Amino acid sequence: MHYRSAAAIAFAASVAFSGGSLAASPDVTAGRHLATICAACHGSDGMSVDTSIPNLAGQHYVYLVQQLTAFKNGSRVSPLMTELARPLTDQQIADLSAYYASVPIEVGKRSTAKH
Ligand code: HEC
Repeated sequence: MHYRSAAAIAFAASVAFSGGSLAASPDVTAGRHLATICAACHGSDGMSVDTSIPNLAGQHYVYLVQQLTAFKNGSRVSPLMTELARPLTDQQIADLSAYYASVPIEVGKRSTAKH
């Protein structure tokens, strides 16, 4: 019994430690899960559903963190994004940004069609 509780404490300590180190770095898998709430507009893979909504797939991690932080703190204002970004924690912003930055994109030939 004594041994078991010591093991439980050691296990709890190791979980707490790995949780602490995870919190310090972005987690792509957690970001992918969080991104389900963004998919309605930005698409399930970060390719947006409408031409008025920016694609996020393959965007730079630092840029995404900067924009989400700007929406959250009000220095960038958007009728849609301000409310969505406000509840995000710094860790969630890092995770979401890491996920979208990780989506591989292939740049095609420039369109020759007249716009
Ligand atoms: C209801 C639709 C909608 C949802 C849901 C949504 N977005 Fe957006 N998002 C937009 C629109 C529209 C813009 C363009 C905002 C502007 O500048 O006016 C935008 C802009 C952004 C930008 C800036 C992109 C750039 O190129 O500067 C980021 C980053 C972003 N969204 C991330 C997210 C994340 C992460 C989520 C999920 C938590 C999310 N969005 C959910 C509509 C949405």
